[in-house]
Amino acid sequence: MSDAKKHPNLTIVAHPLVQHKMALLRDVSTSKKGFRELVDELSMLLAYEATKELPLQPVTIDTPLERMEARRVAGKKVTLVPVLRAGLGMVDGVLRLMPSARVGHIGLYRDHATLEPVHYYFKIPGDAQSREFIVLDPMLATGGSASAAVSAIKQGGAASVRLMCLVAAPEGVERLRAEHPDVPVITAALDRQLNENGYILPGLGDAGDRLFGTK
Ligand code: PRP
Ligand code: URA
Repeated sequence: MSDAKKHPNLTIVAHPLVQHKMALLRDVSTSKKGFRELVDELSMLLAYEATKELPLQPVTIDTPLERMEARRVAGKKVTLVPVLRAGLGMVDGVLRLMPSARVGHIGLYRDHATLEPVHYYFKIPGDAQSREFIVLDPMLATGGSASAAVSAIKQGGAASVRLMCLVAAPEGVERLRAEHPDVPVITAALDRQLNENGYILPGLGDAGDRLFGTK
C-alpha cells in the first residue's frame, strides 16, 4: 500500500532539492552550522507546501501598464508555533516566506522514561479562532509532543492547525491521526520505525542537540 493510502493525513514533499538537503541533514558528519542552515532552508521549502491551501481574495491593483484583478492571501492570519527547542530552528526559514506571520511558542520535552511530553511553556496570540496555525517541530517520533502541542493550541481556541516536520515516524503519524484527525502533517521524509528509546530510524539523531550543540 502506498504511504498516501496508509497515512491520509500525511504529505511527503518529494521535491529533489528537499531530498538532497535531507541527505545532507541526516549525515552524521554534517557540522552544527551546516545542520542549522539545512533546517532553515528545508523549512522554507516545506512552508511552500504547507501553505498551498491558504484562501485567496481578489484585489484590484495598478500595474505600470493597466488596472487588473490580482489575488492576495485572504483573511486568516498565519501563526507559527515552534515546539521548543528544536522547532525554533524552523522559524526563520518560514518567516522568510511569510514575514508578517505571528509566532507563538510551546515548551515541551519528552520524559526520558515514559517518552510522554512534559509542558513547561505556552504562549500564542489572542484571537486564535481566526488564525491558521502551523506547528513547527523537525521530529515527529511517538507523536506525543505534536499531539500535546495541537491539543494546547486547540484549547487556546484554534480551529485550523497543521504540523510541519522534517522527519516523521509511522507511529507518530498514526498517533496524530488518531488524536487529531483534522490536522494535516507535512514532512520531508517518512522513516521506517522508532527504536527502543523512541528515536527515529534511520532518522537524524537528536534534532535539538544537533541544532544547539548540547550533547
Ligand atoms: C524532540 C523533538 C520533538 C520530540 C519528538 O524534542 O524536537 O519535540 O522530541 O518526539 P515525540 O514525537 O516522541 O514526542 P525533545 O523532547 O528531545 O526536547 P528538546 O528539543 O528540548 O531537546
Ligand atoms: N527527537 C529527536 O530529536 N530525534 C528523534 O529521533 C526522536 C525524537
